[in-house]
Amino acid sequence: MSSTIEELERRRAAARLGGGQKRIDAQHAKGKLTARERVEVLLDEGSFEELDMYVEHNCVDFGMPEQVVPGDGVVTGSGTINGRLVFVFSQDFTVFGGSLSERHAQKICKIMDMAMKVGAPVIGLNDSGGARIQEGVASLAGYAEVFQRNVLASGVVPQLSLIMGPCAGGAVYSPAMTDFIFMVKDSSYMFVTGPDVVKTVTNEIVTQEDLGGAVTHTTKSGVADMAFENDIEALLAARDFVDFLPASNREPVPERPCEDPWDRLEDSLDTLIPPSANQPYDMHELIRKTV
Ligand code: HXC
Repeated sequence: MSSTIEELERRRAAARLGGGQKRIDAQHAKGKLTARERVEVLLDEGSFEELDMYVEHNCVDFGMPEQVVPGDGVVTGSGTINGRLVFVFSQDFTVFGGSLSERHAQKICKIMDMAMKVGAPVIGLNDSGGARIQEGVASLAGYAEVFQRNVLASGVVPQLSLIMGPCAGGAVYSPAMTDFIFMVKDSSYMFVTGPDVVKTVTNEIVTQEDLGGAVTHTTKSGVADMAFENDIEALLAARDFVDFLPASNREPVPERPCEDPWDRLEDSLDTLIPPSANQPYDMHELIRKTV
């Protein structure tokens, strides 16, 4: 019995350490939090219930049996934000660059299924190089399962993606299908593939920032909704944002106390919008006076 507990403790410690202290230090040096630290900031203190902490990959090629990390590069589970239930996955860049294996995908699909069943938002903390190259089509098939759930969950439960590292391939296609995308300036990227692969294939030299940085996606492409200065700011904004969302299409929108009388008259609205569609006006003023 004690040897079983010791083995569990060993695996738990290995899961917490992810890809090792050196890679954790590298993550911190880039101004990024680790997958577990992000979950801590996002959720109410002590509310996180982790699932599948000991899941390992099943790849037998390319020396992979010698490189096994319990949890397989993604932390999954449920918790609360200001008392309301949410499901979360947080990819661990220190484990094979957070890339998605067959088992990694199964962990994400499991919490997505649970979220749809009970009617609660799914929040993805994405920090992943996409499909795990060593697994070939098995990892691509894993993404197919995730994409399928992105589609099934659409309009059923809110799906929020935080892009928190250099995300490529499927790690971008899946978030792109979700309802809201937050990015972190200077450390998060969304591209089909990274600049090195672009250079090899097309001989074109392009920076990560131009290819898919937070500024590019919030000012040019419109792929992302908001850009934040750092991980903490993005995670705290996600907490605030979730407060505005219904938990599912079966739930009413959240209500909060309001001091604004329902019969308030705002006479300036009569003249705020100019009669000519060619004339500009302050949209923020309009929203402030109406909402
Ligand atoms: C396995 C990966 C990986 C991947 C990164 N790593 N991406 N391992 N599969 N997809 C590993 C690296 O080998 C490295 O391991 C560690 O993660 C960190 O990666 P670096 O390259 O050192 O980091 P960085 O310089 O920050 O660059 C990050 C990156 C780059 C921009 C994401 O790694 C990159 O371009 N990766 C390939 C991305 C890609 O082409 N993905 C597309 C997959 S196809 P060590 O051991 O050195 O720490 C796909 C299609 C889905 O997703 C379609 C579904 C139908």
